[in-house]
Amino acid sequence: MKQSIVTYLAVFTGVVAAQTPDGFTPSVSTHLDVTFGSKAVLPAGTSLAKEDTAKQPTIAFAGANATETYLFFMIDLDVPSGSSRNTLLHAMIQDFKVGTDGKTLTSTATGPVSYMGPAPPKETPAHPHHYVEVLFVQPAGFAVPAAQASVVRSRMGFKLADFVTAAQLGAPVAGNYFTVTG
Ligand SMILES: *[C@@H]1O[C@H](CO)[C@@H](O)[C@H](O)[C@H]1NC(C)=O
Repeated sequence: MKQSIVTYLAVFTGVVAAQTPDGFTPSVSTHLDVTFGSKAVLPAGTSLAKEDTAKQPTIAFAGANATETYLFFMIDLDVPSGSSRNTLLHAMIQDFKVGTDGKTLTSTATGPVSYMGPAPPKETPAHPHHYVEVLFVQPAGFAVPAAQASVVRSRMGFKLADFVTAAQLGAPVAGNYFTVTG
């Protein structure tokens, strides 16, 4: 009995731990609240309709620190590319600050890369696109590193792990993901 409870807890912890999709790096276990109008992306991996995701979501997380500024990314991991899949940067929005509720993050910035809503192509068989959201503490004087300028401009093939290294970001503070199927 005791053993089965331990096993259950281990499995359960495993399920709730990753808020980013399997195999995605950098992974993060803190949940980022991502809400499209009245639709919360909860739990991570929730499936949404394309129409629901047309406008930039509101974001929040309980561990936000009022002295910090945050940087938000959203990336599609499932862009068809021959027989494999490529990534597409849907948003990189800087200058988020926490509100008086200690949780909600807002920014007046629209970039460096403005929000582009999901528009996955219809495929047979249907292929869900995974859209991952990741939040970082934004370093002082943050700017897109020169070596990343071209991939950031094109959006296509954006690799968050490479950007993190180039921009010297730390570990992500929170994440989430949803799927939209064309
Ligand atoms: C908030 O961030 C500041 C600056 O990095 C740090 O000194 C402080 O310890 C942080 N506070 C909490 C509660 O983590």
